[in-house]
Formats: sequence, structure tokens, C-alpha cells
Amino acid sequence: MNKQRLYINIDHVATLRQARRVTYPDPVAAARLCEDAGADGITAHLREDRRHMQDADIEALALAPRTPFNLEMAATGEMTRIALRLLPYQVTLVPEKREEITTEGGLDLGRDPVRLSACIAALSTTGIRTALFIDPDRAQIDRAAALGVAAIELHTGTYCHRPEESRHLRALQDASTYAASLGLAVHAGHGLTLSNVGPIAAIPECEELNIGHAIIADAVFVGLVDAVRAMRAAMDSARAR
Ligand code: PXP
Repeated sequence: MNKQRLYINIDHVATLRQARRVTYPDPVAAARLCEDAGADGITAHLREDRRHMQDADIEALALAPRTPFNLEMAATGEMTRIALRLLPYQVTLVPEKREEITTEGGLDLGRDPVRLSACIAALSTTGIRTALFIDPDRAQIDRAAALGVAAIELHTGTYCHRPEESRHLRALQDASTYAASLGLAVHAGHGLTLSNVGPIAAIPECEELNIGHAIIADAVFVGLVDAVRAMRAAMDSARAR
């Protein structure tokens, strides 16, 4: 099976910094360490409320990338303007609610199609690769294909919260096969840890994982380099089986 890309979401390095409004730890330095340890790309979410990543972090990551940079953002006018100025390699569009602790579910692509297609059209004129973060649902996948994006990112949060319910994994497997049959690249992420990543890493059509919180949490105990290497090894061994 082809190697699956590991993009590391470094938002929570910034969460730690913003807890004290100081200058450390620096998420850009963390990104460089992740890359040294084998990350294929770096992901960061610029939220409307700037609770973790700040504009200057995103600028540094997008303007001087060492590996492809994936900007997660809501499809708002402000974020679209930022993406068009910084030209990250990839944008993943996510839903965003001010009061949520983290992204709680996938985009509902039927909800605001005009705003979404305007954002996707603007991004595509500059050649930014665009992905849509959605739940593993065929109707959403059909809409993503109709919107003409390169990729979808499947929301793995429900599977991660209830791994004992096998239907959630089956839904992700089915959605991956279906999306790939429509020509969409398949990414996945949210809530993945060393203990639940295996079955997702083993989905043949899934070419990219976005993992953040668990890697940064493991880094508290083992250091960032070893935390990245452990995730890489867990993915590789699941894929080799
Ligand atoms: N993918 C998307 C679209 C996300 O919003 C997030 C969280 O920012 C992740 C992946 C990473 O999730 P986690 O931090 O739980 O690994």
C-alpha cells in the first residue's frame, strides 16, 4: 500500500503559549522539529477568535514552508482574503462556531452553497489545493465532488469517541472508497491517537492524516520528536499489515 502522509496540526503548541500570552513555545519552531522527525506537512487552524494560532504564526508557516502547509479555516471573507494573500499549499475548509471547544463536526455542504462555492472559486484561481472537512456521508461526498474540490477530509471524531461501535469505522471505510471512486483525494482527522489510528491508517484510499492534540499531548512526556516518530510508526505498521 502507498505511504500515507502525516500532517501535524501544531495549534496546541500555540494554545500553551497563549495561556500566558508570552512568546514561547514557538509553533513555528515546533513545526520545524515535526518536519525533522518525519512529518510530511504542517497544519494550523486560524480561528476567528485567534484562541491559539495568531496571524503572525500563519504568515511565518505559509511564507517560509519547508513541507507543504495546510491552512484550516472557515469559509469567511476575512479568512479567504488571508489565504489569497499567503497562498498556502492547501486550504481545508472547516465549520467554526465561536463557543465550541474544538471543531465538532464536518461542514454541511448543503447549508450555504453560495458562500462555499465563492470561497472555493477564489482559492482555485490561485491554484491553492482545497479540501472540505465533512462527515463520512455519501450525500456530503456527492456535494463535495460537485463543488469541484481536490480533496475531502473525513471527520474521524465520532469513531474516536466511540471506537467500540464498529459502524463508525465502517462509515469511514465506505466513505473513503466512495469518494475515491468519484476522483476525490481522501484525507482524515480529528481525535486520532496512538491507540485508535491503526484502522484509519489501514484504509487504502486514505492518503493523508491530520493529527494534532494527541501528538502534542504525548510530547509532554516523550518530547515532540519521539511523539511524531511513534505516530509515524503506528501508521506505517497498520498500513503494512
Ligand atoms: N482536522 C481538522 C479539520 C481539525 O479541525 C482538527 C482539529 O483542529 C484536526 C484535524 C486535528 O484534530 P486533533 O487535534 O484532534 O488531532
